[in-house]
Amino acid sequence: MHSESIRWPAEAIWEAVVPQLPGFTVEVLPEVDSTNTELMRRARAGQPEPILLVAERQTAGRGRLGRDWQSDTEAGIATLTFSLGLPLNPADWSGLSLAVGLSVVQSLHPALQLKWPNDVWLHDRKLAGILIETTSVGKRRYAVIGIGINILARDGEGMRTPPAALSEVLPKTDAPAALLAVVPPLVHMVRRFEAQGFAPVRAAFHGRDLLYGREVTCTDGTTGIARGVDAGGALLVHTAGGLQKISSAEVSVRPGAIAENSSGTAG
Ligand code: BTN
Repeated sequence: MHSESIRWPAEAIWEAVVPQLPGFTVEVLPEVDSTNTELMRRARAGQPEPILLVAERQTAGRGRLGRDWQSDTEAGIATLTFSLGLPLNPADWSGLSLAVGLSVVQSLHPALQLKWPNDVWLHDRKLAGILIETTSVGKRRYAVIGIGINILARDGEGMRTPPAALSEVLPKTDAPAALLAVVPPLVHMVRRFEAQGFAPVRAAFHGRDLLYGREVTCTDGTTGIARGVDAGGALLVHTAGGLQKISSAEVSVRPGAIAENSSGTAG
C-alpha cells in the first residue's frame, strides 16, 4: 500500500498545528526503517525541525526497552505509525510520556485506558505504544515522540493475547482519521507540558488509569496496590512497607486480572 492510495490529511493537520508550532511540516513516506530513527538521524545531522513524519510501512520499528515494533503486511491501513519531532525545553521532563499517552486516549475514545507509564489499552489488551526519545542540538533539546496505533484487528500470532484495535470501538475509523484526531491535540498537550509540566493533567491521568486500585508487581520486586501517580508521573504503589514511588520499573498486574500483552503489535 503506497502513499498515492491512502489519502492522508496532511493539509488539515498542518493548518491546525502550524499556529502552535511555527515552521511545522508534515511528511508521509511509503517506507522507512523507523519514523523515530529517521527523525533522530535528521536532528543529529543538524535538522531539528518541527515535523510530523508518517510512515506507511516501517521495516525496523522500535518499541520501548529495545523491543521491536512490527508492522504487518497492511501497515498504513492496519497500523498507524508516526513520529512528532520538535524542539522541546521543559523545566522538568518528568511525566512527558504520561502526558502524551493521556492526549492519545483523550483524542481517540472514552473506553481507552493507560497502563503506566504510557501504554494505551482497550478492554485489557494493548492498542497503542509510545516511544519518546530526545537528543541535544546545540544548547537545546529535540524530542521525538513516536506512536504506533493498531487500527484494524490482527491475528496476534506469536503473542499471548492478540492486540486490541481501534476498529473495535470505532468501526468506521481508519488510519488517516485517527492521525487527524490525535496530532493537533498532541501538539497542544506537549506545548502545555513544556510550559506547565505534568501536574495540571495528573487528575485526568487518574481518570484513565488502568492500574489504579489493582494489585501490581514491578520488575524491581515491589508489589502492592497501585494508587495512581505523583505530580512528576511516578507510579505510587501501596505496599506492606508503605507508599513506594516507582519511576523506572516495568509493571505487571496480578495474573488473571488483566490479559498481559506487553508489546502490542511489537514482537
Ligand atoms: C512500545 O509500546 O514499546 C512503543 C512502540 C512505539 C512504536 C512507534 S511506531 C512509530 C514510531 N517509530 C518507531 O520505530 N517506534 C514508534
